[in-house]
Amino acid sequence: MTKTNGAKRELSLIVNGEVRIFHAYPMERLLDVLRGQLGLTGTKEGCGEGECGSCSVLMNGALVNSCLVPVLQAQGSQIMTIEGLDEDARICALQETFLELGGAQCGICTPGMILAACSLLRDQPQPTIEDIREALAGNLCRCTGYSQIFEAVAEAARRYSEHCSEPGSIR
Ligand code: FES
Ligand code: FES
Repeated sequence: MTKTNGAKRELSLIVNGEVRIFHAYPMERLLDVLRGQLGLTGTKEGCGEGECGSCSVLMNGALVNSCLVPVLQAQGSQIMTIEGLDEDARICALQETFLELGGAQCGICTPGMILAACSLLRDQPQPTIEDIREALAGNLCRCTGYSQIFEAVAEAARRYSEHCSEPGSIR
């Protein structure tokens, strides 16, 4: 649950490349600001305790659980949510393979899985299955049994490396 002690303050974030200014309590969770104030409901809440990864976003390029980040700590940061990644070729490949190979079922874990996978492919374009398992270890899924997700990421990496000789940048 979000913490609302203290007075609301004017804060700003650069979300998916756009400056967003809003008023929030300093200890309010980044997750609640993204979903409630900025309308970015692609970021999901699972456990609310930093255990499941469904609220994952990229903050200054690093994968974080937005349910654990007080918004004051994120002040001025570059935040990338699932909505900001739809132009990236890695995401296009991941979206295709998650759909084709059954990597998404109820969908609660999917945005976090895709952000974690995207972060992996940015750093390691041709990961092994072990690399994929390790990179997604902080993201829990109740539906798929994981193997479809790992296969979807591996297949996306294959397609991406075949079709994109000049990878675009991912923020
Ligand atoms: S909702 Fe943030 S880690 Fe589970
Ligand atoms: S698809 Fe339902 S939790 Fe992963």
